[in-house]
Amino acid sequence: MKIIRAKDYADMSRKAANIISAQVIMKPNCVLGLATGGTPVGAYAQLVDWYNKGDIDFSEVTTVNLDEYRGLPKEHPESYWSFMHKNLFDKVNIDPAKINLPDGTNPDAEDACAKYNQIIHAVGGIDLQLLGIGHDGHIGFNEPGEAFELETHCVDLTAETIEANKRFFDGNVNLVPKQAYTMGIKTIMQARKVLMVANGKGKAEIIKKAFFGPVTPEVPASILQMHPDFTLVGDEEALSLI
Ligand code: F6R
Repeated sequence: MKIIRAKDYADMSRKAANIISAQVIMKPNCVLGLATGGTPVGAYAQLVDWYNKGDIDFSEVTTVNLDEYRGLPKEHPESYWSFMHKNLFDKVNIDPAKINLPDGTNPDAEDACAKYNQIIHAVGGIDLQLLGIGHDGHIGFNEPGEAFELETHCVDLTAETIEANKRFFDGNVNLVPKQAYTMGIKTIMQARKVLMVANGKGKAEIIKKAFFGPVTPEVPASILQMHPDFTLVGDEEALSLI
């Protein structure tokens, strides 16, 4: 496990974008596993900036996102499909045919998850997986207690995650979808490199627990201690307890 200390959010974003950019430069046809949420927005903005300056080319890159809400239409402003298009895909030269997210519009959970697993296997697995971390240690939507050996599956979101995400749904918990399709921990652990971004005081406790505490399904991110190529880029506040 490698920990990179950044001064603040902007510095964290630039350092994370540098690692992603290095991956794309070294292997232009790489598979990037991507995350949504507030934390990676700055890294995506930095990548867009470098793309505009001609420093990075996404034309051969394939992407697989971590997760998607079940039951939200793609075009819903809070779907992860919309998030990724708004923050990255619409702003760079990525081939739309190479963009993959779980199909939240497929009501058949088993079918949706099996198809997503097939896609991940068909593209040859993930070269670099970007992650954020939830306050309860979730990665993707793998909540505490999830088995480490799962691939893509349907999850019930915890009350804590629904509460944390209501800010994207007019502050109304009733509007937050209650289920999601998520890559499982097994898929994340099979990524050749894993890069986590974390910022702010609110993440300090869980960062300490996940990476300096026992490896346990109760803290899903703790399994990353066992990953052979895991890098955490955090700002001063998120890393303040370690
Ligand atoms: C996003 C995802 C989640 C977030 C986590 C942290 O695709 O899978 O695990 O990474 O909830 O979210 P933020 O960055 O908003 O604190």
